[in-house]
Amino acid sequence: MSARIIDGKAVAAELRAGLKARIAGLSFAPGLVVVRVGDDPASGVYVRNKDKAAKEAGFASRTIHLPEDTTQAALLAQIAELNADPAVDGILVQLPLPGHIDTQAAINAVAPEKDVDGFHPVNAGKLASGQPGLVPCTPRGVMHLLKGTELRGARAVVLGRSQIVGRPMAQLLLAADCTVTIAHSRTRDLAAECARADVLVAAVGRPEMVRGDWVKPGATVIDVGINRLPDGRLVGDVAFAEAAERAAAITPVPGGVGPMTIACLLENTLDAAIARR
Ligand code: GUN
Repeated sequence: MSARIIDGKAVAAELRAGLKARIAGLSFAPGLVVVRVGDDPASGVYVRNKDKAAKEAGFASRTIHLPEDTTQAALLAQIAELNADPAVDGILVQLPLPGHIDTQAAINAVAPEKDVDGFHPVNAGKLASGQPGLVPCTPRGVMHLLKGTELRGARAVVLGRSQIVGRPMAQLLLAADCTVTIAHSRTRDLAAECARADVLVAAVGRPEMVRGDWVKPGATVIDVGINRLPDGRLVGDVAFAEAAERAAAITPVPGGVGPMTIACLLENTLDAAIARR
């Protein structure tokens, strides 16, 4: 079998174009502020890409870049100022934060209605209890990529239990009527769990850990991993060529889930703006 390749780049571009058209019909530009602390080099790339995509779609986007030695109190004060600013619809505190800052305290400081990352416990709780709220961007993006895959009654396995991807992903699949298993580094037989999956979402950050024979023939495989190998190649958590021989549909890395994250950040920001104004 040769799998259908799910083109995240194209789906993300379509989503951004739809948001741009909706924003063109508004009387205001939804405001997105990214707060970056310090100089993590990967964050620099993400933040620039976010800013570019946001401006291109018509958002009022800006980045506040604070120095590495910013105190936790100063960061919380900055977040409080943005919470109170009526022109700001979405606030994203770029992770990772420097080690002297309590990440959860920073997440908890963002007003839940402006929490376009969907990381605040209020939004996590709403998702877990089936109430509308802001949903983390990457899992939201994966749900877009699963349009066209039969989810009702499907057996879904999520590999990884992070707050950012694994857990919210499992909640969204459950809400879409999948039978959901969350597997992780302590799971006894990961290969056997994966081999039962009609929908397999890998989000563990281990290059090419999921081998072809872990994939159920006909499954849909979503690879959230982005791993840089020592030789410079970017690979996912799934051994793509092997898995594509068995899957019915699969996302590539790069060009699969990655582009969806920023598109869904913008989607969340527009949702937050419309809910607030
Ligand atoms: N760092 C890498 N990805 C993300 C993300 O989606 N949100 C935040 N806040 N930080 C990140």
